[in-house]
This record gives sequence, C-alpha cells and structure tokens, in this order.
Amino acid sequence: MVKKTPAVNDEDFAAVLADKLADSRKYRRLGIPRETLLDLINKASLTHTSFREIEEVVRRKMHNLVAPYLGEPDYTLLQSRIAELPRDLHAEEVSRFCLEVLNTHASTRERVPIHAEFYSRLFAAADTPAVILDLACGMHPFALPWMNLPPSTHYFAYDLHQPRIELINTFFEHFGQAGHAVKQDILLDPPADETATVFFFKEAHRFEQRENGSVRSFLHRLASQQILLSLPVETLSGRRSMLDQDRRLVTSACADTNWQVTELLFSTEIVFFIRKDA
Ligand SMILES: C[S@@+](CC[C@H](N)C(=O)[O-])C[C@H]1O[C@@H](n2cnc3c(N)ncnc32)[C@H](O)[C@@H]1O
Repeated sequence: MVKKTPAVNDEDFAAVLADKLADSRKYRRLGIPRETLLDLINKASLTHTSFREIEEVVRRKMHNLVAPYLGEPDYTLLQSRIAELPRDLHAEEVSRFCLEVLNTHASTRERVPIHAEFYSRLFAAADTPAVILDLACGMHPFALPWMNLPPSTHYFAYDLHQPRIELINTFFEHFGQAGHAVKQDILLDPPADETATVFFFKEAHRFEQRENGSVRSFLHRLASQQILLSLPVETLSGRRSMLDQDRRLVTSACADTNWQVTELLFSTEIVFFIRKDA
C-alpha cells in the first residue's frame, strides 16, 4: 500500500515527518529529541508550503545541528575501552585515551594544543566553579583531565546526541565524577541553575543558523549569572578570520543589557566571559 503524504495543514503532518526523520538511516542511531524535530518542522512550516520543501529545510538544519562533518567516532568501541582504563583521571593511559576522543571531533581537536593555557585562564577569570553546565557539549567533557577541577565540582553536560550522552555518562561513572550528561535541547529548554557557570562553546553561530536571533533570547533565558561563550577564530578550513563576525554576534546578543563582557583570546578560539551579576 502506498502511504499518503499528509498535506502541510493536516494535523498529523509534523508528527509524520518527525517519525520519518527519526527513522531515517542517517539519524536513527542518534536519538535526536522529538521536540527538536517538531520545533524544526513547525518553524519551517511558517515559511514554506510544500511537504518536500519543509523536509529539505529541516534536513539541512538537522545536518547543521548534529554537525557530522565535525567527526563521529565508534561509540560502541569507546564504551568498551572506558571499562579497561585505570580509575585515576590523571593516569597517562587515561590522558592518551581522552586525547584520542577529543581528536575525533573538530571542535575539541582544535582546542588540544591550547589546553593548559585555556583552562588556567578561564578559571582565573571566572573562579573555579562549583557547578558547571556544559551546553551543547559534544566531546568536551573528555577534556576533564586538563581542567584540574576539584572532585567536588558538579559537571552537567547537555547534548542532543544519545550515543554521545551515553559515552559521557560511562566516562563520568568510571571516574566517580559528580554530575551527569543529559539529552536535552538547550535552545528549547535551557537548564535553570543560577549559581552554575555555563560553558557554551563553539555553537552560537550554528544556533543563529537554526534560528535567527536565538543566541540573544537564549542568553536572556539562561538563569546562570556567569557564562563562558566561545567561538572559533577562523573558519574550519583555516582560510578566513571569524573574529569580526564573533564579536558582532556577542555584541548584538548582549546589547541593551548591563552585563559585563570580557574577552579571552587564544590562538584558535575566543572566549567571551559574560557576567550578568557584575
Ligand atoms: C560543535 S559541537 C560541540 C562543541 C563543544 N561545545 C566544544 O566546543 O567542544 C556541537 C554539539 O552541540 C550539540 N547541539 C547542537 N544543538 C544543540 C541543542 N540545541 N541542544 C543540545 N545540544 C546541541 C550537537 O549535538 C553537537 O554535539
């Protein structure tokens, strides 16, 4: 039997398309939250009228959101390797393993050469936090050995990608790290913890591509008073500086507020330390 494609104004249109995308070969294993799919579909339906166009727009946005071009490791293999690691986060074998994981993904790979300087400057500016919310975390929690956080620090990592969330939780459990990883769309449902320090690294441009103006409203909705927002200083190809674009985005997102914004510039990344409580 041929399945009838529902019209865009049918009530079950969004549900049918969400099922189709969630079940597709590309996204089946990733367990992207249903609310993310429905949000992308509903927003695309505001500006497009045919099922085909909406599906195309949503597929493009999903590709950008999940960013497979940044790197996808073998999660099953990494899961089993964690169990064999020593329990000391600072053992050499653990650092080697974490570097391997960080190198599988472009965002974290670019940060590896500046690790030592990166966290010492961050925590000199923002004080060592008691609670961290690592939003749109990707593989970043595997940089824990270089953060030198006290074991009491609660680390909560958020992402859309189920295998990544499971891997980070296995890693945290193995080392007795306080906190855990959560599958949650942080744009639709920003975590609310006033006292936590937020890491929002290298994702703000993609947020704007998902929805124009979303970084400004996202920063306003975040309850945290201290936000470390970072952006890459160059395009992925390394051919063009992005610094002007980075600064324009943060300036417009923080316009007409009394927030204090200071910059920490590194060779591959710029961090904007946004203080709402200054
Ligand atoms: C560029 S990568 C990670 C970058 C990481 N913060 C870093 O700098 O090392 C982006 C990650 O954000 C996740 N992501 C994108 N949009 C998200 C959202 N709305 N909520 C939660 N996670 C999101 C993606 O699944 C992906 O793992």
